[in-house]
Amino acid sequence: MLHDDAGQVLSAIGLHLDVLRGELTPEQSAQVVDIQKLLEMVISRIRAASQALHVNVVERAGLGFALEQLATKSREKGAGISVQLQIAPGARWPNEAAHAAYRITGELLENAMRHSGAQRIEIRMQSGTLEVRDDGRGFDVEKKTAGLGLFLCRHLAKRARLGFSLHSGAGQGTIVKLTLHGH
Ligand SMILES: Nc1ncnc2c1ncn2[C@@H]1O[C@H](COP(=O)(O)OP(=O)(O)O)[C@@H](O)[C@H]1O
Ligand SMILES: [Mg+2]
Repeated sequence: MLHDDAGQVLSAIGLHLDVLRGELTPEQSAQVVDIQKLLEMVISRIRAASQALHVNVVERAGLGFALEQLATKSREKGAGISVQLQIAPGARWPNEAAHAAYRITGELLENAMRHSGAQRIEIRMQSGTLEVRDDGRGFDVEKKTAGLGLFLCRHLAKRARLGFSLHSGAGQGTIVKLTLHGH
């Protein structure tokens, strides 16, 4: 997405300035540090604006559309991994649950891309459930509870009153199912 790109370009400028500082007088270097502080400010504002925009996308265009954007992004990042998205016709989620589901799905996709070695990731959205599954190496759910990402997912689900169930095991892939309250 455009905003993420802008943030990355600005971060790259910051790194170039780091290199430059090594070749400057102390006074000049101090000025560059000031410029870098301004850059940091702009970067964090872009990040906040970008997050607000995501919230808007979920609210205005709906969870299904926002998930399509996530899937597209994952396809671009994870060259060669198939990312399938199925949305049942007419499936619509209330705002609060949709926000949580969107953020959780983002983390689950990142996990699948980073940790699973999967060939195929599937996202399936229905009127009462959302499933994210991969056919990768899986992991021992009992042992691997320390990660911050999954901790946050459970927390977000709980706050939005979404059911959260995770099934995984060595060689079995990973399935996470979110359930809307009352389904
Ligand atoms: N889809 C997945 N496939 C294989 N392993 C996974 C998957 N999701 C999570 N894991 C394992 O669980 C750990 C915890 O995940 P997480 O809480 O998101 O933390 P992090 O991604 O920062 O390591 C990961 O480090 C990884 O070992
Ligand atoms: Mg993670």
